[in-house]
Amino acid sequence: MSKWLVTGGAGYIGAHVVRNLISQGFQTVVVDDLSSGLERKIPKDVPFYKFDISDTLKLTEILKENKIVGVIHLAAKKAVGESMLNPSFYYQENIGGLLSVLQAMANAEVKNIVYSSSASVYGTPKEEKVSELSETHPESPYGETKLVGEWLLKADQAARNINWIALRYFNVVGASENELGDTGVNNLVPMIFRAIAKNQRPQVFGGDYQTPDGSCIRDYIHVSDLAEAHAVAAKKLLPKNYSGIFNIGRGSGISVKEVMKTVADVIGRELNYEIVERRAGDPAQTIADISKASKELEWEAKLDLTDMVKSAWDAWQTFPPNNL
Ligand code: WQD
Repeated sequence: MSKWLVTGGAGYIGAHVVRNLISQGFQTVVVDDLSSGLERKIPKDVPFYKFDISDTLKLTEILKENKIVGVIHLAAKKAVGESMLNPSFYYQENIGGLLSVLQAMANAEVKNIVYSSSASVYGTPKEEKVSELSETHPESPYGETKLVGEWLLKADQAARNINWIALRYFNVVGASENELGDTGVNNLVPMIFRAIAKNQRPQVFGGDYQTPDGSCIRDYIHVSDLAEAHAVAAKKLLPKNYSGIFNIGRGSGISVKEVMKTVADVIGRELNYEIVERRAGDPAQTIADISKASKELEWEAKLDLTDMVKSAWDAWQTFPPNNL
């Protein structure tokens, strides 16, 4: 089977993508600068190159010497709040990084790329569920960089006939094994775990939204299901001249309060969470219409929120983040 390069393969999502690719018979190579990834997450027998993907010449060399067929590009900065404070850093890292990857691919005549995009390209949706044809008006520099990345892929397809798929991730939770938990405490479930670890009350950011229970609604997806979508996308690309954008979620909305209840059920104790002020920039509801991925990729998520929270909790207890 073909050999693919995974940028950001030492990261939370990247480590899951590498393992899923291998389980489906792909060969993989990892590039990661370890600015947030962990070397321990890279399987021992996978070639690993530690450097910043902005080094286009080095990237070109690696694509050539490994006879890479395609790139799964995950290396990027992804903290929405940080991007509000330092937009030019996000443009430099996320757009600059993709530009370097695309240039290296051109140099090495590599034609296939699966790109990590995001539900944040939609901003505050107008519809109950967002489809890939919904309006995109990102509300953070992070979301903007993800959308601009998609435009770059379209332009490169027109210029040199690359095949590309952009996967718009919704809210990713869980771990396929305890060693691979999310150690970046930037999202709801790890933030609840951190509050528990510090004997603090977990916080619900806003209880006065126009939703059934007043808290925000999101579309949560298990990282194992998300990883599978990357392997499916890679296989889809191999025919010529294919491109597509896909929502990767479960197609169902869950509120913050419902997540709190699921966590309480999984860990077997009350959370005593508190409702605090809304967080700036949070849409009340973002749910994916996943019919396109279901039809064109023949992919659907299999795991539910309890699977996500239980696997995340088991991983957290085995390998808690060391920077709480
Ligand atoms: C989820 C909900 C918060 C913490 C993220 C990424 C974005 C994209 C999509 C990849 C929100 C609420 C949170 C807490 C809370 N992923 N919350 N208390 O903002 O939906 O988007 O996933 O591309 O990059 O940022 O995720 O986990 O921050 O928040 O009430 O302690 O939980 O208000 O409604 P978000 P999140």
